[in-house]
Amino acid sequence: MNSNTSFHDLPALDTAKLPAHVAIIMDGNGRWAKKRYLNRINGHKKGTEVVRTIVRTSREIGISILSLYAFSTENWQRPQKEVAALMTLLKNFLQSELKEMMDNNIRLTSIGQIERLPENVKMALHKATTATRENNGMVLNLALSYGGRSEIVRMVRKIAGKTKDGLIDPDSITPELISEHLYTHGMPDPDLLVRTSGEMRISNFFLWQIAYSEIFFTDTLWPDFNKDEFIQILKDYQNRERRFGKVGS
Ligand code: FPP
Repeated sequence: MNSNTSFHDLPALDTAKLPAHVAIIMDGNGRWAKKRYLNRINGHKKGTEVVRTIVRTSREIGISILSLYAFSTENWQRPQKEVAALMTLLKNFLQSELKEMMDNNIRLTSIGQIERLPENVKMALHKATTATRENNGMVLNLALSYGGRSEIVRMVRKIAGKTKDGLIDPDSITPELISEHLYTHGMPDPDLLVRTSGEMRISNFFLWQIAYSEIFFTDTLWPDFNKDEFIQILKDYQNRERRFGKVGS
């Protein structure tokens, strides 16, 4: 197969230069709803439909890992009604998408303080994670009650504990060892980070992992995000030269 193959209705993406790991900060659900005089929860509902579209598109294109920032450690401070609605949407998503994940060979993983999630969400998550664990077509990695700083604190505690127990020599602490003690151990760092809604912030997502990620900000609110724009962003990524701190070719 030619590396410039365009398949289905996907315009000329270079399949040899796809990002292996795409991470997305899905922002703007509230503003999307406000613009329509709707409750914020309606924005999250529409946002969930977009999650389905982008998961499907990523699988179709051949992305290996799609990480979605679905709920941050800071999001617990939102009004209780909104938190409850987000948890219900999440539980429903995990239940309704399980068949699609199985049919499309998608493995579900999660990162973050999973223990803080309501029992019914934890159960749905456990069920979907277990059922899909042998799938190898794509990883859908949901960041839930996730925060980059608390992930780093957790990693430091783990490494400090092992050092104290004499299992790790401080001189053998390397960037690789640190990566192995993060939630994302075993995953390559994101090649591409996308944030919707025009905000130019990282908001405590993947602080360690995005050292060399290409970053793309779009003004589009998450509920308005779609397959075409996602493909345009992937094409833009393919035109960038990644130097990893070295000189260009
Ligand atoms: C940011 O919009 C979005 C979130 C805090 C939650 C993201 C959740 C979803 C897209 C739906 C549920 C997820 C899954 C995986 C089923 P915001 O509320 O901060 O928007 P605003 O900045 O305009 O207020």
